Amino acid sequence: MSSANVGGPSQSTPPPPPTQSHQSAEPQQPPAPPPDANDDDAHLEIDTATPTDSDADSAFDANSTSSTSLASSILNYEYSNGRRYHGYRSGAYPLPNDDEEQDRLDLLHHIFLLLLNGKLYDAPLPNPPSRVLDLGTGTGIWAIDFADENPGSTIVGTDLSPIQPSWVPPNARFYIDDAEAEWVYPAEERFELVHVRGLSGSIGDWDRLVAQCFAHLEPGSGWLEFQEPEAWVWSDDGSVAKAESLVQWQELCNSAAGKFGKELRVGAGLGERMRRAGFVDVRERVVKVPVGGWPKDARMKEIGRYQREHMAMGIEPYTYGFIGKVLGWTEEECKVITAKVVNEVRDRSLHLYIKFWFVCGRKPE
Ligand SMILES: C[S@@+](CC[C@H](N)C(=O)[O-])C[C@H]1O[C@@H](n2cnc3c(N)ncnc32)[C@H](O)[C@@H]1O
Repeated sequence: MSSANVGGPSQSTPPPPPTQSHQSAEPQQPPAPPPDANDDDAHLEIDTATPTDSDADSAFDANSTSSTSLASSILNYEYSNGRRYHGYRSGAYPLPNDDEEQDRLDLLHHIFLLLLNGKLYDAPLPNPPSRVLDLGTGTGIWAIDFADENPGSTIVGTDLSPIQPSWVPPNARFYIDDAEAEWVYPAEERFELVHVRGLSGSIGDWDRLVAQCFAHLEPGSGWLEFQEPEAWVWSDDGSVAKAESLVQWQELCNSAAGKFGKELRVGAGLGERMRRAGFVDVRERVVKVPVGGWPKDARMKEIGRYQREHMAMGIEPYTYGFIGKVLGWTEEECKVITAKVVNEVRDRSLHLYIKFWFVCGRKPE
């Protein structure tokens, strides 16, 4: 049983429904130091030492089957290619919501924590925000961590899938809701932080999303923060040229996402969209996240090992979701390209990285 509210707000603690489509769910964080734009976009030095046993042993147990407590059967899920998909607003989001996908999302959360040195957000808020909205909350792991760390704050998480756990902190609520529907939060319930992470490939109209965030933020003190990994691999030593299947795959995924009407590579445009919508103090930070333990730097080596496993887990769902469903490849064709791409993701001779975008801005008075 999920804590997500379906068909009406929670009986015990009835907050008003957040949008028209609503189907219904302090360790003080120090203000983040104001980093310069792109300050992490530095060259990653390659570790030329022979891979050690610890490198051979993945930092992540790829056989883990944890997070079974998150499953829910409240809604009519859909099944294809052996994966489970959301039923509410069927087809709006092409990736699965099953246990395997939830494990991937929770691993991605861990990578974000490592990148932000344990912080949950990058925006320079002077105090923990009192009301927070986490759009497309997934397993709710970010919202739950935030609620645990900030018992004086209220946090609302929304998603198309009711995959949030039953046991949540009392200051966290989850709702089944479409972020692209009209929001109807009352004016007295404006947010001090809207957190949007990993929604590339999920949103058709980003300008409208940014405008809705702006409208529902507290003037003067409300911040919007995007945290977006970009679905594109790079290398600084040219080794990406050897990842032929991966390069073909990412081009296919991106063209499928364009055809589907929900672009994947949105990070670079978010800052400009926010400025156009009226946000001030907008800052954009790009972090190169290695795929594998190839960097010399110990912290980036650890992050790279997690990212390699995270990416290996993500190839199949993106293949079925975009190349299969949108471009019409057969299950067999999807399996073949998935296997080739996963091999390249695990190829230790490649020094690949992807870019993670951290973009935030404040609503003026
Ligand atoms: C890649 S996951 C990211 C989850 C979470 N933000 C995180 O970082 O762990 C994207 C999530 O967005 C949800 N989603 C996609 N489109 C949505 C929409 N239109 N409204 C609400 N949620 C949506 C999906 O169901 C999925 O849980």
